[in-house]
Amino acid sequence: MSEEKIIKIDMGEQISNDGGNRPVLCLGIESSCDETSAAIVDSNRNILAHIIYSQIPEHQKYGGVVPELAARAHILAIDDVIRQTLANAGKTIDDIDVIAATAGPGLIGGVLVGWMAATGIAQATNKPLVAVNHLEGHALVPRLRATAANGTGGDVKVEFPYLLMLASGGHCQILLVRGVGQYELIGQTLDDSAGEAYDKVAKMLGLGYPGGPIVDARAQNGNPHALQFPRPLCDKAGCDFSFSGIKTAARTFLDRTTGPLTDEYINDFCASFQASVVDCIINRLTHALADVRVHDAAPRTLVVAGGVAKNSAIRTAMEALAQQHGMLFAAPPMNLCTDNGAMIAWAGLENFNIGRVVREPIAPRPRWPLTEL
Ligand code: KG4
Ligand code: ZN
Repeated sequence: MSEEKIIKIDMGEQISNDGGNRPVLCLGIESSCDETSAAIVDSNRNILAHIIYSQIPEHQKYGGVVPELAARAHILAIDDVIRQTLANAGKTIDDIDVIAATAGPGLIGGVLVGWMAATGIAQATNKPLVAVNHLEGHALVPRLRATAANGTGGDVKVEFPYLLMLASGGHCQILLVRGVGQYELIGQTLDDSAGEAYDKVAKMLGLGYPGGPIVDARAQNGNPHALQFPRPLCDKAGCDFSFSGIKTAARTFLDRTTGPLTDEYINDFCASFQASVVDCIINRLTHALADVRVHDAAPRTLVVAGGVAKNSAIRTAMEALAQQHGMLFAAPPMNLCTDNGAMIAWAGLENFNIGRVVREPIAPRPRWPLTEL
C-alpha cells in the first residue's frame, strides 16, 4: 500500500477521514486458531456487529485443534463471516474506515486466511490496513469493554498503565501495559500455558476439548483440598510460571487410581487442580505488584484477559488481590475473553489512532512476541 493511501491522524484526536466528528469504523478479522470471527467496532467503543464462528465441533473428535483442518475451515467460512458482519451492522464496505486483521502469532495457515482477506479488501478499497498482534488484541480489549467485578460490577474504562494477567491457550504472561504498543514483560511461563494445563488435564480425565470450561464447571462441585497438587515456583522469587509439574502430578494421581473414575472423584480432581492454578497466579501477581518496574509505574487497575479469563475462580481471586492493593479489577465480558474479532477491531482502532498502519506488504508471523511491537 503506498504512502499516500494512508490516512494520517493526530494522536489523541477524534479520528475521522472526512474531517468531521463521525466515529471511525474498523472491520476486524480474527483467524489465528479455531475461531473465524469478524466485528465492526467504532472509536466510541460501540460494537456494531460481531460474528464468532467457532470450529470447536470440527476439532473435538481429535481432542485438540488440527492446524490443517482449521486453515481449511477458515477458508470456507471467512467470506460469509465478513459479509454477514457487514450486513448485521447495516453497513457496506464503503462505510468502513479501517481494516484490521490478526497477522500473528498463531497457526500460520489460519492467520494467512484472515490476513490475506484483510489485505485484499484494503487494497481493493484503498483503505488503511492494520496488522494486529493477536496478543495485543487480548491485551487491549478490556479498554473496549470490561466489568469492574466478577461479572457483577458496572462497566469500567481501563486506563493506562495497567497490570495484565494474559492467560490463553497459547500464552501465560504478566505484562505491564504502559500504552498502545508499550508492553513490558514482567513474568511468563517457562513451559506450558495455563490454558494448555486445563486442556491437558481435561484430556487425561477424558472430559473433552476445550478443557478449560469443562474443568471449571466440574471444579465448582468439587473439594479443592481433596488432592494436593504442587504450586510450582511459588516458593521462589520472581514472576514466572511453570505448569508442567502440575500436569505431571495430575498424571501421577491418575496412574495411582484404580477402578473407574467417579463423578465425585473427577469433580474433586478438577477443584484441586484449579486451586493450584489459582494459587500460582495470585502468588506470581503478588510478586509482580512488588516488582520495582510495576511499583514505579503505579498501575491503578489489575486486569485479566485471554480465554482463561473466563474462569470465575481466577476472576474472584484476582478481584480480591486488587482490593487488597487498593486497585480496581477489570475483566472483559465472557465473549471477549476467548478469541474474537472485536478485540482485533479494537486493537486495530487503537493502532490506527497512533498511525500504526501497514505501509508495505508484510508476512504474517507464527511467532510474534508482544515485546517486539
Ligand atoms: O484466548 P483463547 O481463546 O485462545 C488462544 O489465544 O490460545 O484461549 C483458549 C483457552 C483454552 O485453553 C481454553 O481451555 C481456555 O482458554 N479456557 C478456560 C476457560 N474457558 C476457556 N480456561 C479455564 N477456565 C475457563 N472457564
Ligand atoms: Zn487468543
